[in-house]
Amino acid sequence: MTTTDPVRVETSQLRFPPGFLWGSATSSYQIEGASTVDGRGPSIWDTFAATPGKVDGGDTGDIACDHYHRYPEDIALMRELGLPAYRFSIAWPRVQPTGSSTINRAGLAFYDRLVDTLLEAGIQPLPTLYHWDLPQALQDNGGWAVRDTAERFADYATVVHQHLGDRVAEWTTLNEPFCSAYLGYFSGVHAPGETDPVRALRALHHLLLGHGLATQAMRAQASANHKFSLVLNFSPMRIDHDDDAHREAQRKADGLQNRIFLDPVLRGEYPADVLADIAHLGALDAVVRKGDLEIISAPLDWLGVNYYSPTRVAPAEPDHEPVSHLPGLRGVEVLPPRGPLTGIGWEQEPAALRDLLVWLSEQAPTLPLLVTENGSAFDDVVTEEGRVHDTGRRTYLVEHLRAVHEAVSAGANVRGYLAWSLLDNFEWAFGYRQRFGLVHVDFETQKRTLKDSARLFAEIVRANAVPS
Ligand code: NOJ
Repeated sequence: MTTTDPVRVETSQLRFPPGFLWGSATSSYQIEGASTVDGRGPSIWDTFAATPGKVDGGDTGDIACDHYHRYPEDIALMRELGLPAYRFSIAWPRVQPTGSSTINRAGLAFYDRLVDTLLEAGIQPLPTLYHWDLPQALQDNGGWAVRDTAERFADYATVVHQHLGDRVAEWTTLNEPFCSAYLGYFSGVHAPGETDPVRALRALHHLLLGHGLATQAMRAQASANHKFSLVLNFSPMRIDHDDDAHREAQRKADGLQNRIFLDPVLRGEYPADVLADIAHLGALDAVVRKGDLEIISAPLDWLGVNYYSPTRVAPAEPDHEPVSHLPGLRGVEVLPPRGPLTGIGWEQEPAALRDLLVWLSEQAPTLPLLVTENGSAFDDVVTEEGRVHDTGRRTYLVEHLRAVHEAVSAGANVRGYLAWSLLDNFEWAFGYRQRFGLVHVDFETQKRTLKDSARLFAEIVRANAVPS
């Protein structure tokens, strides 16, 4: 990059605090490929993607970005972009092919190579232990809807933490338990593709319990510099009218979407109003045991915040059950997103990110927040000159970083920002059609091409500032 680069950022612009952590993020199933290599066992996503009709175009993660073999090239790209941190996930079925007992040394060895190469490049590793690739054998045993999976997760976390803890200080248990529980067990658009609201809510509890048990187990063997975290996704609820009926619809949807995940972690209790809303399902009473909420609410060192877009809701007849991802939601209509939309059809509302970060810091003033994901999908084209002029993504990035800056200026305890994603990758049920990368991937040739947004992000990171 030269000083005449059109995407250069002037350093006089909105500066972030010194030490603000910058980086990019990916996850194992979305980029690694090599799905049967070195003893990796099958995961629920292998099964789901192989089921006709579940993923657009019949795409699977079998090859993905072939990152399992190309990680040195990908780390070299991060280095070229000057990205100081990298959030990735560890594939449970590489480490424990059947999700329990037997440890696959060859699988762990991949993460040794990855972490060592990152450290040699001066990039801080931020591993997440679970980004949705549950060993299929555990799903066959009931999946997250049964308590045993939470206990198996803590065992797996202990193994990985013990193995990499000499080199890795930052540990995240789960990525977006909302998606694992609700999309996986209620709306069925993600693996394992179930559509049972009761099992979805039980999955939610066992995921949070798995987080708590794993954190407890890792802390018991941790070095003094180790830090533990959880990544939650939030979608603020937007209403068109500020009247009682709309506020009630907002309360219900926000409760099931956001607070039912956050409150147990921060306060050691499920929100009473949400429990009342879902009481008709009888889902949680049967599985929440004495002591669980203390385990779930053990203090975190930081909270990961994933944000993409808000959700619009309106009041409906009391027994109306909308088509939505929220199990037990009644009396609410979920409205279509409004423009401007990204290529995947999600609403763009940077102000919601600012408000969310400020609100979270009000909820937990001493808890550091890290934006662990934020980004946009657009239909990118590589020009003959080998450039990708992804104007929409650049705009999304700058506007959301301004929102983060506003939140920091308003006193929110935000410590960094990780862009989703380093690479175009397997976008779950959308397959490879939706591209979130800063770096374009040609899935035929595996060629990587920096998009304009990657060059812009590199300049922002270098300057520790975003254009005003
Ligand atoms: C959140 C998920 O963590 C990630 O896997 C996904 O690709 C992005 N959102 C975009 O949908």
